[in-house]
Amino acid sequence: MAEPFSWVPAGINTDVPSAARVYDFLLGGGHNFASDRVVGEKVLQVLRDGRAIAASNRSFMRRAVLLMMQHGIDQFLDLGSGIPTVGNVHEIVQQEKPDARVVYVDYDEVAVSHSQLILEGNENAGVVQADMCRPQDVLSDPVVKDLIDFSKPVGLLMVAVLHFVSDEKGPAEVVARYRDAVPPGSLIALSHLTADFKPQEMGSVVEAMKHSRDPMYFRSLEQFQPMFAGMEVLEPGVVPAPRWHAELGPAGEDGPEDVYVGVGRKV
Ligand SMILES: C[S@@+](CC[C@H](N)C(=O)[O-])C[C@H]1O[C@@H](n2cnc3c(N)ncnc32)[C@H](O)[C@@H]1O
Repeated sequence: MAEPFSWVPAGINTDVPSAARVYDFLLGGGHNFASDRVVGEKVLQVLRDGRAIAASNRSFMRRAVLLMMQHGIDQFLDLGSGIPTVGNVHEIVQQEKPDARVVYVDYDEVAVSHSQLILEGNENAGVVQADMCRPQDVLSDPVVKDLIDFSKPVGLLMVAVLHFVSDEKGPAEVVARYRDAVPPGSLIALSHLTADFKPQEMGSVVEAMKHSRDPMYFRSLEQFQPMFAGMEVLEPGVVPAPRWHAELGPAGEDGPEDVYVGVGRKV
């Protein structure tokens, strides 16, 4: 039974937790259900800095967008965009350049319906409900085709989404399909949770998420780096989030290092 909130899409099964809503809970948002909070609490029991890890990833996203803007990019495709919270891509970019284009893509109903709500009347931003592991569906979507000009550099974001993609689905191949669709000079931001620093705790997180709609697959630095194939990785390379371009904004330099991040330029 859906909880009685206007942002709950019809027909959604609120008993099955989802990554979008557990992440919203960890960020302190209000768009989550009891089932999501149970999983979120479990995550926090085993990973005491779970909230700091989520915030660290979110702040990398902001810095990556700012860096892309410094490189002259004014159109963004945000894959696995999540439930809108403070500091969404369109807010960051349209504050400086109101005609900058942004398309959000997510498969979570709450993420999509809430994005639709906050984008009402914004002609330069849109949202698509799709599985980002099906690049053809995303790239041929009318909203994407209408707002993104694939003859000009694109800012592609796959932030905290690839660790929901199993080896069978081939995360590196998924990234490569999007990389191939954008012109040279496009910038691609990737972030990925790792168990390199806290194998036991992260093993428990995987366990806690097992019965959600989005099981997780943490990867080592060696497994993550190949996802930047066909790109020149910008300085400082692929590093834990707090060590990436702290000069662009709060990076939580003393914070947890459990999210690897990087931005590559398509060559
Ligand atoms: C942890 S959130 C990250 C949100 C945002 N990118 C950020 O970093 O702040 C991961 C999001 O990816 C979405 N997601 C996971 N797998 C996906 C897929 N195959 N296609 C589309 N969205 C996906 C989830 O629904 C969730 O909203």
